Amino acid sequence: SSNNQFANAPDTDYAQAELRQKGQQALEQVRNSLGKTYLPLIDGEYVETAEYINSVNPSRSSEIVGKIGLISVEQAEQAMQAAKTAFPTWQKTPATERAAILRKAAQIMEEKRHELNAWICLEVGKILPQADAEVSEAIDFCRYYADEMERLDSGYNYDIAGETNRYFYQPRGIAVVISPWNFPFAIATGMTVAALVTGNCTLLKPAETSSVIAAKIIEILVQAGIPKGVIQFVPGKGSQVGAYMVEHPDTHVIAFTGSREVGCRIYAEAAKLKPEQKHLKRVIAEMGGKNAIIVDESADLDQAVAGVVSSAFGYTGQKCSACSRVIVLEPIYNTFIERLVEATKSLNVGVADAPSTQVGPVIDANARDRILEYIAKGKEECQLALSMSAPDGGYFIPPTIFSDVSPDATIAQEEIFGPVLAVIKASNFDEALTIANSTDYALTGGLYSRTPDHIDRAYQEFEVGNLYINRTITGAIVARQPFGGFKLSGVGSKAGGPDYLLQFLEPRVVTENI
Ligand code: NAD
Ligand code: ALA
Repeated sequence: SSNNQFANAPDTDYAQAELRQKGQQALEQVRNSLGKTYLPLIDGEYVETAEYINSVNPSRSSEIVGKIGLISVEQAEQAMQAAKTAFPTWQKTPATERAAILRKAAQIMEEKRHELNAWICLEVGKILPQADAEVSEAIDFCRYYADEMERLDSGYNYDIAGETNRYFYQPRGIAVVISPWNFPFAIATGMTVAALVTGNCTLLKPAETSSVIAAKIIEILVQAGIPKGVIQFVPGKGSQVGAYMVEHPDTHVIAFTGSREVGCRIYAEAAKLKPEQKHLKRVIAEMGGKNAIIVDESADLDQAVAGVVSSAFGYTGQKCSACSRVIVLEPIYNTFIERLVEATKSLNVGVADAPSTQVGPVIDANARDRILEYIAKGKEECQLALSMSAPDGGYFIPPTIFSDVSPDATIAQEEIFGPVLAVIKASNFDEALTIANSTDYALTGGLYSRTPDHIDRAYQEFEVGNLYINRTITGAIVARQPFGGFKLSGVGSKAGGPDYLLQFLEPRVVTENI
C-alpha cells in the first residue's frame, strides 16, 4: 500500500530575491548573537556545569558560535532519575496529546526557519539551501511521527465470538538519543520526537560540535509543551557521559546515529545485563556508508555527471548518504572522468555563509587531518585526477578525485566522510555490481542507466537500504524515501518510514473471555 497522504514541508525557494534577503538578514541577526552560553536542561532546570567547551564556526575557526556546559556523570545520573520520575505521567498522557505537542513544535520550526537555517550554517558549515532542507526534514519528522503514533494508537482488534483480543502498544521507558553533527537539526529532532511521541522520557546527547543547534531543538520542544523531566538536554563527552547512559540499567532504548565504530560499541555494551536490570535494551544504530554510483554505457552523461558531483561534494562529502565511489563502465570511462573533473573544477569552495559557496568547510581540525591522511594514502595507491585549492581561515578541504582506483584500495573501502571521490573502472555490468557490493556497508547507492535489464538487476542485486536510479543519492524525504541501511550501515531501521516508531514501543495483547 502507499502513503500519498502526507504533505511534506516545502523548502525555501531561494530563487526569490525576497527569501534570499530573509536568509541573509537571519544570518546577520544570528552573527550578532554568537558566543552565548548554553546549559544542560535537567528536570526542567537549566543547570551550571563544571566544564564547558566552545563550539566554533568551521568556516572561520576563530569565531565562537556558543559555549556549551558539559554535564558530569553525577548530573547524567540526576537526569536519569528525573526521567524515571516523569515517566508514569508521560506514559499515561494520551497519544493525541503527545502528537499535538509535536505538531506545535513543527509550527514553531516553520516560524523560525530562517533563524534555524542560519544557526546550522554557522555552527556546522552547511550552506543555507542545505540547512533549509534539514529544517524541512525536521518539520516532516514531527508531523509524520505525530500521525504515525495516532495510527498505531488504535492498535489491532482480533476479536472472535466469545473472546476479545486487543493488540496495543506501550512505551518502553527511558530513551537515550545520541546524535551526530552532520545533520544536527534533522536527525537529532527525528530521533528525539520519535522517542517522545511514543511515550518515552528522553535524554538528548548531541555531538559536541553541534550542541548549540541541539540546545535550540530543546528550546522548541519545551516551548511546544513537553513537560518537565520528559525531555532532558545532556550535552557531554560521548566516551564519558554517553557511555554512562548507554550502560545505565534504567535505559530501555538507545537511538544512535553516528560512526560504525561507536555504533558497534554501543550495540555490544547495551547487550550486557546489569545486576539491577530487568529488561533487554533496544538499540537503533544508524551508521556509516561507502556509497557507490554505477554509471553504465547507456547513461545520460550530463545527468550522471551532475548527479555524481552533487552526491559526492554536497555538504563537503559529509553526508552518510554521500557518493564516495563511482563505478564507470569501460566504454565511457575516459569521457566520464574528463567531464566529471571539469564539472567539479567549477564548484565554488568557501565560507558556508557566502551566497556563492557550493562547497563549505569540513567540521573540525580532526576531520580535516583525518581526510588529509586519506588523500595522502590515495596518492600512494591511485591516480590523482583532480586537486583544487582551498581558502584559509577555516577547516577547508577542496573536492579531490582519484581515478583508476582498485576496488579494494583503502580509499575505496573505508568511509572517509569528506570531499574525496574514488573512480573505479568496471569491464561490464556484472563486475560493476560486484564492486558496488564489495564493502562492509549497505546504505545508499545509485545507478545511471537507460537499460531496462540493468535497472531491473540493480533493484534485485544492489545491496543498499536506499537505491536511487537516475538521480542524486542524497536528500531522502520523510514518508517518501524512508531512510536507513543494513550490513554494517545499521540495524535496518528506516527513519521517516512506517516501521520506525515500533522500535520505541512494546506490543501487548489482552485476551478476554466474555
Ligand atoms: P560519532 O560516532 O563520532 O559520534 C556520534 C555520537 O556518539 C556523538 O554524539 C558522540 O558524542 C557519541 N559518542 C561517541 N563515543 C561514544 C560512546 N563511547 N558512547 C556513547 N556515545 C558516544 O559520529 P559523528 O562524527 O558525529 O557522525 C558522523 C558519522 O555518522 C558518519 O560515520 C556517518 O556516516 C554517520 N551517520 C549515519 C547516518 C545514518 O542515517 N546512517 C546519518 C548521519 C551520520
Ligand atoms: N537522510 C539523509 C540523506 O538522505 C542522510 O541524505
